[in-house]
Amino acid sequence: MYLKNCWYVACTPDEFAEKPLGRKICGENIVFYRGKGGEVAAVEDYCPHRGAPFSLGYIEDGLLVCGYHGLKMDSDGKPAAMPGQRTDRFPCIRSYPVVERYGFVWVWTGKADQADASSIPVLKWADSPDWGYGGGLYHIQCDYRLMIDNLMDLTHETYVHSTSIGQKEIDEAPVSTVVDGETVITSRHMDNVTAPPFWQMALRANDLADDVAVDRWQICRFTPPSHVLIEVGVAHAGRGGMNAAPQYRANSIVVDFITPETETSMWYFWGMARQFKPADVELTDSIREGQGRIFAEDLDMLECQQRNLLQYPERRLMKLNIDAGGVQSRRILDRLIKAENTIT
Ligand code: FES
Ligand SMILES: [Fe+2]
Repeated sequence: MYLKNCWYVACTPDEFAEKPLGRKICGENIVFYRGKGGEVAAVEDYCPHRGAPFSLGYIEDGLLVCGYHGLKMDSDGKPAAMPGQRTDRFPCIRSYPVVERYGFVWVWTGKADQADASSIPVLKWADSPDWGYGGGLYHIQCDYRLMIDNLMDLTHETYVHSTSIGQKEIDEAPVSTVVDGETVITSRHMDNVTAPPFWQMALRANDLADDVAVDRWQICRFTPPSHVLIEVGVAHAGRGGMNAAPQYRANSIVVDFITPETETSMWYFWGMARQFKPADVELTDSIREGQGRIFAEDLDMLECQQRNLLQYPERRLMKLNIDAGGVQSRRILDRLIKAENTIT
């Protein structure tokens, strides 16, 4: 159950800097590498000779070389050469539209003629010196939609992340969910509360007092296929909340690109783009480390949840008001997947 005619974050360029990277995305084995001229290429991770994965091979003069018997493949999926063989009648393999942008590699898993790079989301923070970014990747054994549910309902922070970003007011503050076309927005504002440890750290890092009351906000935005960007932050109480002047607030965007691997596993590209001390490399590292620890707590919960769901597939789950963000996001996905399968 995934959308195919769309862009997914596949990897980051460092992952194939040394050798080709094999990665399963939406059930398809794909190999990523740099072809002639240094541009990113993505083709099936399947050598047409005997089916060996190309990701076990290497790159030579921009051609992907099979590590089994040396067949060389061009980035358009056409066999280019093989020692002692004529390759002009060898079968081609599939190549995928792929774009390197914002520090990520985006792959189009559907019909290639429908791929339009202008539909890659615009990330205002990625190219701006006003923002600093750090992030990582987790491989998680769960349906990618469980992660969408998780991120569109942050009440879990009170329980799963009690020592870092959780606080009881998350449970108490009313949450609003709005559907705007194919976007779902879930918002929560907590006024005049104590900042939890992570946000106290952020306040200090931004040279702000960390022992005064704050207004805190969380605005989660889902867009298809499975991107969730969350505006989060705190400001000294009474200064305008998320509209407070920069000298009173610490704010960031939690970045979540969720890429299905199989029906029950996914690649989770997580990160934080912050609008304070953007050039502070040490701060980037320490936030990355803290966020990585926090998100590992989600990983444990989701993998255990997935195992339970697989063991009891017939049991119906509840849908509470706090689940509205995830429910609405899944509804949009279901609709788009159905439309895609009807057309194709
Ligand atoms: S399997 Fe690739 S060259 Fe033989
Ligand atoms: Fe979480």
